[in-house]
Amino acid sequence: MNKERKLIIAGNWKMNRTVAEALDLVQSLKRELNGVKEVDIVICPPFTALHAVASEVLESNIRLGAQNMSENNVGAYTGEIAAVMLKEFSVRYVVLGHSERRQYQQESDALIARKAAAAHAGSIKPIVCVGELLADRESDRTEQVIGSQIRGSLAGLTKEQMIETIVAYEPVWAIGTGKTATSQQAQDVHAFIRTTLRSMFDDNVARKVRIQYGGSVKPNNARELMSQPDVDGALVGGASLEVRSFSDIIKNSI
Ligand code: 13P
Repeated sequence: MNKERKLIIAGNWKMNRTVAEALDLVQSLKRELNGVKEVDIVICPPFTALHAVASEVLESNIRLGAQNMSENNVGAYTGEIAAVMLKEFSVRYVVLGHSERRQYQQESDALIARKAAAAHAGSIKPIVCVGELLADRESDRTEQVIGSQIRGSLAGLTKEQMIETIVAYEPVWAIGTGKTATSQQAQDVHAFIRTTLRSMFDDNVARKVRIQYGGSVKPNNARELMSQPDVDGALVGGASLEVRSFSDIIKNSI
């Protein structure tokens, strides 16, 4: 597929897979995806499996991501993990502001923006998630909600940092439900996000930022979604937990 920006497809394993299971999965993924150069491939295991998985992906085309990170660098923050600690395991990406964290940990746009700045300071690329609830969509508030999440969660980044940031559009009603946004619905919101980035930063930034779609991405819908002009990859949940479905999503997107 001929794309303006290189596709980036990431697997968000959420709170799944022990170390042994993670090793099993990553070893199979390495075999399946060996030689794939057209797509940036990222997997985001739970913190507890990062160390083991890091040694497995060292010399491969698979990059490592974490699912969350502290806004602080060091100190008395019980239960938190700092960027410098993730760097020890060669983590290159971090998912920030996932809707599950916005919902269950009450993460705000302002907090997500501070985490994104901390990620860049620690040389980790943030994958910043935004997405509307079903009620927002049904009341025609999608653009209002997404616009305010984008402005709030990316506030304060420099142009250079923004270019190195990935945005993930994940409509909350499509996560884990089997209900995917149509490719047109995804394209419309992605184009809106790009327009918002143009007004916050500039045209060059807007053209370079990669915007992933997430929400029930499967092997059978990946190609159509990825063929949309403003869809530059996917953030995959459930289907990233099985070697067959995750590698088929990637292969079907090339
Ligand atoms: P599903 O692919 O399971 O719908 O999850 C999407 C998601 O939340 C990825 O971050």
